Amino acid sequence: MKRREFITNFALTAGLVTTTGFLQACEKYSEKPAVRTKNFKADLELDLISKNDYVHVFPGKSTQVYRYDFKLIKGNKNRVVPVNDSYLGPIIRIKKGEKIRVNYKNLLDDESIVHWHGLHIPEEMDGHPRYVIENGEKYIYEFQVMNRAGMYWFHPHPHGKTGPQVYGGLAGLFIVSDPEEEALNLPKGKYEVPLVIQDRTFNSDNQLIYLQNPMERMIGFLGEQILINGKPNFKMPVESRAYRLRLLNGSNSRIYKVAFSNGMPFKVIGTDGGLLEKPVTKNYVVMAPAERFDLIVDFSGMELNDKVELVSLSFPDPNSGGGMMGGMRGGMMGGSSGKRQGASFKLAEFKVTKIVNKPFKLPAKLSTVPAPNISKAINLNNPRRFRFAMSHMSWTINGRTFGMTDVANDEKVKLNTTEVWELINGGGSRGGMMGGMMQMPHPIHVHQLQYRIIERSTGNNSELWESLKDGFVDNGWKDTVLLLPGMKAKILLSFKDYPGLFLYHCHNLEHEDMGMMRDYLIQS
Ligand code: C2O
Ligand code: CU
Ligand code: CU
Repeated sequence: MKRREFITNFALTAGLVTTTGFLQACEKYSEKPAVRTKNFKADLELDLISKNDYVHVFPGKSTQVYRYDFKLIKGNKNRVVPVNDSYLGPIIRIKKGEKIRVNYKNLLDDESIVHWHGLHIPEEMDGHPRYVIENGEKYIYEFQVMNRAGMYWFHPHPHGKTGPQVYGGLAGLFIVSDPEEEALNLPKGKYEVPLVIQDRTFNSDNQLIYLQNPMERMIGFLGEQILINGKPNFKMPVESRAYRLRLLNGSNSRIYKVAFSNGMPFKVIGTDGGLLEKPVTKNYVVMAPAERFDLIVDFSGMELNDKVELVSLSFPDPNSGGGMMGGMRGGMMGGSSGKRQGASFKLAEFKVTKIVNKPFKLPAKLSTVPAPNISKAINLNNPRRFRFAMSHMSWTINGRTFGMTDVANDEKVKLNTTEVWELINGGGSRGGMMGGMMQMPHPIHVHQLQYRIIERSTGNNSELWESLKDGFVDNGWKDTVLLLPGMKAKILLSFKDYPGLFLYHCHNLEHEDMGMMRDYLIQS
């Protein structure tokens, strides 16, 4: 019976996936690695299981969720730690250069596959939807971690179902360290705190509610309740000293303007792809879905029992700028259950429970992040252009939607080259009325690599830009960049080591599921 409620809540979307998703799921695209490679010597090995489960999010009735469970096979047990009493998957900690094997088993009643967001790994390890496995099947991941120290994450990637599966609880952190980072002596242990920010909506029975109607799907899921590490009303006792807060926006489509309630500034030390060259002082940062920020926050100026909240500040609703989306959402389409994009929220509360004298001095230089070398780009004066827009009532990239292994000519790049891509939100030949009215923010993610942002325009909503512009950190390594309505961004990408078929897509998971995702091919 519970099972049924759950299906009803989640099926609302699944039903909208239509037949294409179903047909694609039935085709077999490749051989699935179901056996361990004998000569691959893993430094860390775990079993990872996606399954239905129950957790206590609120007192009283437990909540039915999807959850990544795990069993450590090889490695010290502090390398893979559960997030206690949460639906979140384990936090995997690994060193750059180490090898990991993950024996993934899918126990969901639906197909799934695990994607390692932000990692530089071969195509068959990347969790492309063509590799989905069914209930009871296994997929073995084996790869060496080549990424810089940073916080990456993993989540499902079955086509048309990523939104509901992540929403249901499937996500975990993958934290990479390296000697350079270790030498900085950043706050660690209990002073290094990963915070996964997500929004959810619950019914009176403590059960998750996903999308309520087709217009909500068009916009993307926006919940009314904030969860931090899977918990509502997240509170943390702190000492009067510096902490390292590692933030992931693990929400399906909500954007946060993250700040402290007392206005205190903080230092940004890293972005999606790891440490910045130098710390940057900010009063707020803007986080689109999938983006990460590595922060140093100093509570040393506070007194015993002082409290400060981590909040998301209000900003103008970017979905209503054109009129039509906002109007439809509030009016003719029946509205939505969640709070609007840009609504303010309390995220977490920190209370000083111990006064210590531990002054912390952040090194002036954190890492070496050379300025993007645009002269290496083979198409500097003729960037490859990708337009993210509404076309014929669906979300598209250059007018196309996702096809499992579809690659157009303008989506083929060469191994060992560097290119400039211009990512454009909205407009185009079909722009006109619909294009202009249906503009929404799109966080654009490219698989397989970390890129650099070399240019960003202000977009066509100046009020929105003014409200958010100081929250972007564009001088680090990134795998996701937020395009506000009308915004263009140029990014510099280098295709290295692994040829193959990889995804690029909007990380608004409902947009992704609707097909605002394409393959690009790295040709050797
Ligand atoms: Cu975080 Cu293609 O995904
Ligand atoms: Cu990814
Ligand atoms: Cu989008």
